[in-house]
Formats: sequence, structure tokens, C-alpha cells
Amino acid sequence: MSTAFNRRTSGGADLSLLRAGSVGGLKPRSNLTRETQLSLQLRSAIYGTGCYVPERVLDNAELERMVETDDQWIVERTGISERRIAAPDETTSTMAITAGRQACADAGLDPAELDLIIVATITPDHLTPASSCLVQQALGAKRAAAFDLSAACTGFLYASTVATGMITSGMYERVLVIGSETLSRFTDYTDRNTCILFGDGAGAAVFGPRRDGTGILYTKIYADGEYADLLRIYGGGSKQPPSLASLAARDHYLHVAGRQVFKFATNVFVQMIEEALDACGMTQDDVALVIPHQVNARIIDAAVRRLGLPTEKCFINIDRYGNTSSASVPIALDEARRQGKLNPGDVAILLGFGSGLTWGATVLKM
Ligand code: UT7
Repeated sequence: MSTAFNRRTSGGADLSLLRAGSVGGLKPRSNLTRETQLSLQLRSAIYGTGCYVPERVLDNAELERMVETDDQWIVERTGISERRIAAPDETTSTMAITAGRQACADAGLDPAELDLIIVATITPDHLTPASSCLVQQALGAKRAAAFDLSAACTGFLYASTVATGMITSGMYERVLVIGSETLSRFTDYTDRNTCILFGDGAGAAVFGPRRDGTGILYTKIYADGEYADLLRIYGGGSKQPPSLASLAARDHYLHVAGRQVFKFATNVFVQMIEEALDACGMTQDDVALVIPHQVNARIIDAAVRRLGLPTEKCFINIDRYGNTSSASVPIALDEARRQGKLNPGDVAILLGFGSGLTWGATVLKM
């Protein structure tokens, strides 16, 4: 994985190849082995990661005092012991700024050099302007284009797939992708079905070009709007603008059809791993770590059992953070790296699934 961004991209080699139009992979040359061709292919790679979670901890004991629930039920049914809650002055953009700054520092990149910032979120500071523009301003990333992307718990996978397309097409070289959510502002703390699940936080990664056989080997994103009702916040949008009636109906809170989502998530988890391994010509033995969206420890356990995947190959931190939607995969990725569970040359599979419905998988060689 990354040494400093500028060291990896210095020398102009990538740039000259990009400008000569050799993007998206070199044309096969008969005198090169397949391995050499693959190692020369232009890929999008992660150069640095970062994350931020608020200080305030909301544990199960405190939830027991808020709704009719108990620690044992929550731990057994979800694996969650505590989650983080944003302070009153914290927002999706402030958490994104901290995580993004950390990812740039890890990449050895001055944010002023960024070409693009994508913030994946379903809980932006405002309907407009985009949270990514607030991040751009705070980071001093004056050259960067910026937009928000809404794909719920698959947000980081969607945003990094877009970043990968931008990088391998030669359009951009330095892309900051952030997943950030303040779900506590859209959680109904009188509803025991949902309030136990969610937490706040942000995770980030800097993507750039690489031609050494590492980077994103495969990425695929999916959607099925037929099941749009399963996970929803309908109040406050243009169809149902904020009103006393929508507030009274608690429509501005997140509603979840838990059992249906449970089945969906378990199934796509298994399918996506099988498809990704097949597409990359790999087996589970080639994979160092699977980093799934932290939706529910039971969903993850069920999928891991069906796949016959050793449990130590699946990263879990839901016990400490709950479900942070688009932030969950990049927070887990950053923690896995910092804990030494992902090292240069290791292959990781990142998985997301959530509202939309949306889902996606990325195979990444560090
Ligand atoms: O990232 C995407 C967003 N996340 C999701 O969509 C969540 C996915 N689904 C899940 O994680 C699980 O379905 C839940 C954790 C939400 C629920 O677990 P479950 O095993 O599917 O429980 P259930 O909904 O079938 O409910 C079982 C019982 C019900 O009581 P009855 O009807 O059997 O008497 C619930 O009322 O558990 C009750 N219950 C609770 N009891 C104590 C529901 N929430 C709680 C609670 N504490 N917090």
C-alpha cells in the first residue's frame, strides 16, 4: 500500500502515459507476459486513509433508559454495544473534514493538490450547498471539483467506483472520497426498532493512479429501486416537504424494514464475494481481509458461515460504532490498516449494501 502520494506519482511517468491516451490498461503486447501486462495496467489505488468518530458514546445501558430494550437483546441481535453521537456543533461536513484531512496527510498530499472531492452521504449538512463544497473550502482544496453522492450504506463503494472511473480515464489524478454520516439527527430515539442500530462518523481515502499491479482490481455497483420503501426517510424532500403533519408523523426519521433488509444483505454479501472472486480468478485463500458494511454482526456471521470464510478474515467493528451507513466501510478500512490487518500486497474485498436498494463490491490490492 501507499508510501507518500507524491513519491509514488512523481517522475511524470503516469502523466505522460495518461496524456498519450494509454488509459484504461495497456494494449496487450505479445512479447510481454500476462503478469507483466497486468502489472503495467493503469489502476486506481488508495494512497492514504483517515477516519473520525465523535467523542460522545451512547451505550446500550443508556438506551435501556430511553426505550424498552436491554443490552442482551441488542448485543445478541445486532452485535452492537455502543455507538458514537455527534456533538451539537458537529455535522456531516465537520466530521468529513477531519477524516479527509487525515487521509491527505496519510497520503503525503497537500489538499490544495486535490482534483476532486466526493462526499458520500445521506445526511448532508444541507439540501444545498453540497457538503463536499464545505469540505473543499475547509481543506483549501481550491482546484478540486466537489459533489455529494447518495447511495446510503453503499455510498463509499459507489463513490470509489466513480473515482476509479475518473482516474483510469485520465480525467483526474488525486481524488478524495469520503463517507460521512450524522445519522443521530435522523434517528427516532423513541423507536426501539431503529434507535439501537445507528451511529455517527466519517471515513476517507485518497485515490490516485498506479501502474505496479496494485490498486482496484475489480469494482461493481448495483441498484434495485423496486425495494426503495425498505429503508427510507421520506419527510423533508420535495414530495413531502417539511410540515407540522410530516413532523407529527415522524416522517423525517429513518424507517427500516429490518427483516427484509436482513435477508437481502445476507444474500448479496455471499453473491458479491463469489462474483468478485470469480471475476478476479481468485479463491478465498488469496484474500487477506473482507471489509463489509457494518450492518449487523448476525448478518455478517450468517454470510461468513455460508461462504465458509474464516472469521478472522472478516473485519468487524460494529460493536463500537453501530451502523454508520456510508462511513462504515472507510472507517473499517482505516482501522484495519492501522491495526496491521492490511499490509502492502494484501488483497481486500470491500462490500456495501443498503437503501435504494443499492449494493456493491470492490477488490483492492494494497
Ligand atoms: O444498513 C442498512 C440498515 N440496517 C438495517 O436495515 C437493519 C437490518 N436488520 C437488522 O439488523 C435486524 O432485522 C434488526 C436488528 C433490525 C431486528 O432484528 P430481528 O432479529 O430481525 O428482530 P425482529 O425485527 O424480528 O424482532 C423480534 C422481536 C420483535 O418482538 P415480537 O414481535 O417478536 O414480540 C420486536 O418487537 O424483537 C422486538 N424488538 C426488540 N426487543 C428489544 C425489536 N427491537 C427491539 C429492541 N429491544 N431494541
